[in-house]
Amino acid sequence: MLIKLGDKKTFNIILVSEKESNEITYKLKGDFSGKKGEFLLVSEELVYFGIDEVGDENLGYRELGFNIGKFIKDTKLKEAKIDISLLKEEKLANFFLGLELSDYKRKTYKSDEKKEVKTKEVSIYIKGNFEADILDNVVREAKVLAASIGRTIDFVDAPSNLLYPLEFAKQIKEYFKDIDVEYKIISRKELAKMGMNLLLAVGDSSANEPCLVVLNYKGNKKSKEILGLVGKGVCMDTGGYCLKPSASIYDMKGDMGGAGAVVGAMKAIASMKLNVNVKAIIPLVENRISSSAFVPSDVIKSYSGKTVEIHNTDAEGRLILADSITYAIKDEKVTKVIDIATLTGAVVMMLGQSITGVLSNNDEFYNIFDKSSLAYGERHSRMPYYKEHEDMIKSKFADIKNLGAKYCGAITAGLFLKEFASPTPWIHFDIAGTSKVDSPIFSYEKEGATGAGVVQLYNLAKEMSK
Ligand code: BES
Ligand code: ZN
Ligand code: ZN
Repeated sequence: MLIKLGDKKTFNIILVSEKESNEITYKLKGDFSGKKGEFLLVSEELVYFGIDEVGDENLGYRELGFNIGKFIKDTKLKEAKIDISLLKEEKLANFFLGLELSDYKRKTYKSDEKKEVKTKEVSIYIKGNFEADILDNVVREAKVLAASIGRTIDFVDAPSNLLYPLEFAKQIKEYFKDIDVEYKIISRKELAKMGMNLLLAVGDSSANEPCLVVLNYKGNKKSKEILGLVGKGVCMDTGGYCLKPSASIYDMKGDMGGAGAVVGAMKAIASMKLNVNVKAIIPLVENRISSSAFVPSDVIKSYSGKTVEIHNTDAEGRLILADSITYAIKDEKVTKVIDIATLTGAVVMMLGQSITGVLSNNDEFYNIFDKSSLAYGERHSRMPYYKEHEDMIKSKFADIKNLGAKYCGAITAGLFLKEFASPTPWIHFDIAGTSKVDSPIFSYEKEGATGAGVVQLYNLAKEMSK
């Protein structure tokens, strides 16, 4: 999409309020309520889009932008002018992100899928009372974020026979080849020498070798602060010997949603040249059944030195993340650490598919994230924890176990990670619910991967760069 500022005489898309829509209805004797998503095609040159009921909810503007973009595509317009005079400045970011997202086409592997025919770019003129450089920046960011979200969706939707650990690592390298981000891969053999035993306990369950990818973006050479982004990259989670029921395995091709989000966010951070240092630490494994797989009752010495007793091989995410968090702090010297993971079914039961569950050991850091989230308004909810929850992961034979008690599984999974992160300021994102949707919740979503986490991680980095 080519987005330009200007008042060209062309197809007109006008945002209207409820009051205006009443007048329009009266004049045209049509039936148009001006509600969100509803539009009224007045002539071959004019369409009205209602914005009432979009209200103050930030994501509503992403839907509005998406709906307009889809209208332009569906009517095969080559150019259009959108009058956004009614929009408040703080809603522009989501509006343009939605508009750009309408350009995304889901990747499939159908043999008869038409080769991508490059259609002539649609030219969109924007009319409104906004300063050109503000608008320019918003549009640039929207393009970058939409591209990152699209790539993350493609990664997360990819099946594990086509996206196994070493292949994922290769595609990440390729994705960063033209941008100022250093890439490093730590092989299985090196991981073994280092003693990353939790990562390997999971990774060695599969003939597809595990690895650890590290990306380094140095956006602020004057600062010693390094933000670490650790993303769960389980390319397939069968559950291992604690095998999942058949119907649950299908979705586990997306158990690398955290890794996907980190990759997408990192690309956006570097593309927008944010003034901040960020390292991505991405453990890539599969969780399968084999003679070299770990089993319940195993006691494993983690990279940190703490011992972990295995109670359930399906609680594998926290194991690979634990060693990766230790590595991020000890070897990569990150000063703040985030982990993001499709970690628990429990968080889906609690918050569904539109709200990400969050845990943190540091109010100050959490508040920076909370503030940054206002820009795009994606939903999250902070979970509480107390001593009784920490007690739930105590083990009889080792320092801790990889399973909680009967209740609050999303909290105890997070607390397992806190053991390895503290005292470093840390935030944990459980995107098991939000990383994909069974059916769309917002108009810009489709069944399958959502790209959850890309915008949230990007915005946190942006807030830290101020
Ligand atoms: N990858 C799953 C969590 C998950 C569930 C992601 C649903 C996406 C959708 C994770 O590895 C897992 O299996 N967790 C177990 C933990 C349990 C054994 C303590 C779970 O949530 O059931
Ligand atoms: Zn699992
Ligand atoms: Zn998993």
